[in-house]
Amino acid sequence: MPEHLRLGVNIDHVATIRNARGGRHPDPVRAARLAAACGADGITAHLREDRRHMTDGDIERLIADIELPLNLEMAATDEMLGIALRHCPHAACIVPERRQERTTEGGLDVAGGRDRLVRFVDALSAKGIRVSLFIEPEARQIEAAAAIGAPVVELHTGAYCEAGAGDAPAQLARLEAAAAAAAALGLECHAGHGIAFDSVGPIARIPTLAELNIGHFLIGEAIFDGLDRAIRRMRELMDAARRDERASAPA
Ligand code: PXP
Repeated sequence: MPEHLRLGVNIDHVATIRNARGGRHPDPVRAARLAAACGADGITAHLREDRRHMTDGDIERLIADIELPLNLEMAATDEMLGIALRHCPHAACIVPERRQERTTEGGLDVAGGRDRLVRFVDALSAKGIRVSLFIEPEARQIEAAAAIGAPVVELHTGAYCEAGAGDAPAQLARLEAAAAAAAALGLECHAGHGIAFDSVGPIARIPTLAELNIGHFLIGEAIFDGLDRAIRRMRELMDAARRDERASAPA
């Protein structure tokens, strides 16, 4: 089990609020600085094709001003590939993207799109960018990710986080099985989407996960309690879950 479960804070929705008025406040780079001070291990930002939240200028400033590793979420398009290769973020997470969707609604179909995706994995990796593929927690997607040489997969946690009490155990079991399958193939495994205070514990206890990427809930919670307290609380819940997991693991 990785000693420390990393927290990547996704700051997209700071930009969403800024863009509602078209000015400069609130500044996502300031949020990234605050996240760094509150225990985040990395910053995640999604430059969408329609630039609905982060802008090209935001990405430039994050690269220039923030010392934490940047995980750039991007669609598999030539435009985004060019931007990633120009900025060389620490990591790039390839996500599916449809303009009509409100957020990233499902995982990438790696199994059905190997030939198209391998070019992106190769080009990013050649520049030293750590590539992850955002996928549903399914064995065939994990196997396809390994087959095209991606070093990391990020499991979509939306179905678990949105599940009612009846379906949650089955959705959690899917995540656990997928994380174990990824580890067995030598992949680093991340998880994210929809994670909140009440759902983070069981996810953080999955022993082979190395990183969680969390955004919307933290920015929403910041309205009530401040971003610093929201991030610190999430960090505490992650650490407590890992401690429990270690304590209950067979010696
Ligand atoms: N991971 C990936 C790949 C995502 O696309 C998103 C949403 O942008 C997240 C994590 C974070 O999801 P949320 O904002 O629901 O916490």
